[in-house]
Parts: sequence; C-alpha cells; structure tokens
Amino acid sequence: MSDATDAQLAAQYEAFPYPRRDPRDEARRLVVGSPGHLREIDYWIFGARRSASRPLRALFAGGGTGDGTLMLAQQMTTAARTGTVTWLDRSAASLKIAQARAAARGLGNIVWESRSLLDLPGSGLGPFDYIDCCGVLHHLPDPAEGLRALTSVLAPDGGLGLMVYAPHGRTGVYMVQDALRLLAPAEETPAARLDVARRVMRHLPETNWLRQNRFLDDHVNGGDPGLYDLLLNPRDRAFSVPQFAALLAEAGLRVACWVEPLRYDPMFWLPDPKLRAKVEVLDATGRAALAEALTGNINAHIVYCVRDDAPRERADPMADDAVPIGREVTGEQLADYIQPDGSITLAFDGLRAPIPLPAMAPAILRLVDGRRTVGEIGATLASRGSKPEAFARAWQATFKALEHVNRLLLKAPA
Ligand SMILES: C[S@@+](CC[C@H](N)C(=O)[O-])C[C@H]1O[C@@H](n2cnc3c(N)ncnc32)[C@H](O)[C@@H]1O
Repeated sequence: MSDATDAQLAAQYEAFPYPRRDPRDEARRLVVGSPGHLREIDYWIFGARRSASRPLRALFAGGGTGDGTLMLAQQMTTAARTGTVTWLDRSAASLKIAQARAAARGLGNIVWESRSLLDLPGSGLGPFDYIDCCGVLHHLPDPAEGLRALTSVLAPDGGLGLMVYAPHGRTGVYMVQDALRLLAPAEETPAARLDVARRVMRHLPETNWLRQNRFLDDHVNGGDPGLYDLLLNPRDRAFSVPQFAALLAEAGLRVACWVEPLRYDPMFWLPDPKLRAKVEVLDATGRAALAEALTGNINAHIVYCVRDDAPRERADPMADDAVPIGREVTGEQLADYIQPDGSITLAFDGLRAPIPLPAMAPAILRLVDGRRTVGEIGATLASRGSKPEAFARAWQATFKALEHVNRLLLKAPA
C-alpha cells in the first residue's frame, strides 16, 4: 500500500539521499554502529553458535547511502567471511552514493536491488539469514505491512536488526515539525521548505524543546539531508517500547536484545529495594517500558529479534572453548578505561552509567584478544597465581557487566 505521503517521502530521498555521505571519506574511516554489526549479529542473533564458515546472506532493506551495508560487507571481507550483503532501496540517488562508497573500498560482496521493500514477498529474493531495517519502518504507510514483507524473506533460523524512532528522546522534534507544516507546507519546493526551516531554527524561542534537546544534532550537523529528514519529513512516527513490542509480536518476532541492554534495565537505575521488588514482577517488555519512561532520553529503539519459536540458548561464556571478543574496542582498551575505583563509566545520550567490575577485570581483559579461549585466559592467570574459582567468579561478573552494555561478546565458532 502506497499513498500520496509516501510519494513525497520517495521524492525526499531522491532530492536528499540520507545520510549525507562523501565516498572520499571511505579512505579514512568506516562508519560503524548498531544494528548490522557483524559481531552483534553473531552473538545477539545466533548466540555465538552459528559457524563462521557458513555463508551469511544479509539484506539491508532501505539501505540508504550505505552505512550499514558497507559496515557489514567490510567486516565480512576483513574477517574472510563468505556470503553476500544485499542493499535494497528505491532511491536511485542513494544507490549512486552507496555504490561509489563500495567501489572506494573495493568491496565485491554486495548485491544491489533497486526496488521497494514492500515488493519483497514473491520477489524471488532470499531467504536471508540477517535482515537489517534501520530507520525505515517508521516512515512507511503501514509499518506492520513492512515488517511482514521483511519476515516473508527471512530464513527460518534467521533474525532481524531494526531501528525505529522513540518518543521521549525526540522531545521537541514533533513540535517543530508541527510549526513547519504551517510555515513550509509539503506543496512547496524542497529548497523553499529548507530555507524556511533554516530561518525558523535561527529564531527558536529559548523555551523550545528542540533547542533544549542536546542529544539530537542531525538538523545542525547533518547538512540538508539531516535537516530535511528530522524536521520536514512527510511521515515519521515514534514508537514507545509497548508499541514497538506489539508490532514485533504481531509479526511473530521476539526481542533477543534491546541495544544496549542496560538502557532497558530499570534495575540499574533503581537501587531502592522496595522499588526493585515491584520491578521483579514485570515482564521483559514492562521492564523495558519502565526504563524508557524513567530515563526519558531514548530517541531510537534498536533491537535484534528472532522468530518466536527460535531457540533461546546462547553459547556459555563459562565454557573453556568460548572466545570472548570486544564489540569494537579491544580487551586491552577496555582495561585501559577502568578507573581507579575499579569501574568503567559509560554515557548514553547524557546518561552516565558507572559499571562496577571485579578487581581481576583488568588482568582478564588484557588477555581478551578475540583469539584466546576462556580456558586459555584462565590458564594464563593460574600460571600467575590466580585460583581457578576466583578467576571463574571474576570472569562471570566481568562478562555479565560488559555484555549488558554490548561491549564484550562471544565470537562465532569457527
Ligand atoms: C532514513 S533513511 C535510512 C537509511 C539507512 N537505513 C541508514 O540508517 O543509514 C530511509 C531510507 O528508506 C528508504 N525507503 C523508504 N521507503 C522505502 C520502501 N518502501 N522501500 C525501500 N526503501 C524505502 C528511503 O529511500 C531511504 O533511503
């Protein structure tokens, strides 16, 4: 199902391919993030139980100018992983940029599909082991139809990585969108609308919530595509945790991980025992909804999800043959971040989270290099005088704490 607003959306991404990217920048950096990160897919979707030698068939639906597609294609190439990454979008302007970026990297594992994701059912594409849809469902006329189209080409044991907007962290956005609908209606040209939006941004009253929202900057740093996407988009809706969970449930999906798990864990923010007792009785969605409402700063929900009936087991981090790996930074770097009080402090959109770690954590983390097994790390520390039980306790606590912030994961088996 398409409508007039959808036609405006299609026109927007032809005029302003999103996000703004220059292929020349590939020479100096790879854009990484969630969802779509190979190590996250290996761990959160496949539980570090799917062999790295099995080809991975991935789809980026609404791939835009290529951020996720290039990240995964590059990570697979670097790790000598076989398979293909299919970029799919209906924006020809985005295709041009994404292809130029891929060419700049010399990537040969990308398949290009110019079409609507709503045409996936019966398209002959797929099945895919991993489907990524980042920042797209919330623009569709019917997000549930979009999700059904995606799951129609998902392999039985595959999973999805999704991102949709969330309401509280976008405080201010919808008020400014309302104002701009009055001053720069959709019938005007994109250039005229942008001009009005820029003028309005210069005169936002000091009480305006977008002006006070320090954690959104697309309209400031994202060029014309960023400003247009945030404030002049013909359709975007934000999903609260319960609304998003209902959308997933209707599609027969179960959340394997809210990213980062700690942000969705109200226990972390509520030390009061009486309150914790009340949290205990909430189900997983209720807890995530509570954390969202309490912290108030989540501007997008990122989830990895699998089919309802998919196995829940993950590889055991205590197994001798498990191989821990930092998601992006190395174990050595994680150890360097540990403060004198033994904790690591992370910040999520302004929300500081001190993560307490056991005293042995630095010594353990310095041995985490993505190759050593847990057994080898334990043996090395034993040779330096650590007791096996002390190592086991410290490793369990270290992994649990850093997995909860999506910084330390387990590697896919060979
Ligand atoms: C906000 S951009 C996100 C791009 C990319 N996923 C990212 O996160 O960087 C939304 C993208 O969805 C695409 N899109 C919107 N509706 C679509 C549809 N029905 N089929 C395919 N692509 C669509 C747009 O063309 C645009 O490139």
